[in-house]
Amino acid sequence: MTESLKTSGLSVPEQMSSLPSIIAIDGPAASGKSTLGLKLAQALGYLFFDTGVMYRAVTWLVLSRGVDVNDEVAVTALAEETPIEVAPASESDGRTSDVVVDGRDITWETRLPEVERNVSVISAYRGVRAALSRQQRRIGLRGRIVMVGRDIGTVVLPEADLKIYLIAAAEERARRRYDEILARGGSAIYPEILAKVIERDRIDSTRDVSPLRPAEDAVMLDSDKLNAEEVFERVLALCR
Ligand code: CDP
Repeated sequence: MTESLKTSGLSVPEQMSSLPSIIAIDGPAASGKSTLGLKLAQALGYLFFDTGVMYRAVTWLVLSRGVDVNDEVAVTALAEETPIEVAPASESDGRTSDVVVDGRDITWETRLPEVERNVSVISAYRGVRAALSRQQRRIGLRGRIVMVGRDIGTVVLPEADLKIYLIAAAEERARRRYDEILARGGSAIYPEILAKVIERDRIDSTRDVSPLRPAEDAVMLDSDKLNAEEVFERVLALCR
């Protein structure tokens, strides 16, 4: 694509229109999807949309209302009837977006350990996925978007112009999540974080509905071998 741009003699706005409009980034827990997605969206002037926060928001709602996480019917009803607003970050406190439910900002609540422990069970429910992916698809089809999740390239937006699938060893991903928690002033035990990451990967990739897997036309990037900046540079080069 770079070559045709160089030789095309197009003006900047015309060149811009040849950028991929819908960019899907998928991969397992803590593989660096949000870091990459946010940076890429900022560089291209696109909307960044992290779909994981919607599954986390439903999980928080279920726990805070005292609904049994194993009650698929009740959990699905909550996911269907509660509007979840995801908006660009309004505060620079480390958040990548705002998550608002019932008028309440629950951005940081969605990161709580009890949400993390239960989110994969809830996101395996067919009705929950249907309700959330419908909203995600509607937003994604507007274009000029970087959408991040587990099933964006395979199910939510299979027509995405560019699909990236990030991989990294579980130990490396757990170390990043551990560092993130400590950087936010929290406390964590590394072996416990590692066990949780492995368990979440297992549930996400073995569920019946939209399991975590790369789309056939996804570009695979191994972030064990590349730092965040290098991953970003590679993806930016794929866009141009
Ligand atoms: O940031 P991290 O990778 O740890 O998690 P996340 O992207 O916030 O996603 C939290 C959980 O939501 C995942 O473990 C999946 O169970 C679920 N999820 C999903 O099923 N489909 C998506 N498109 C995004 C998240």
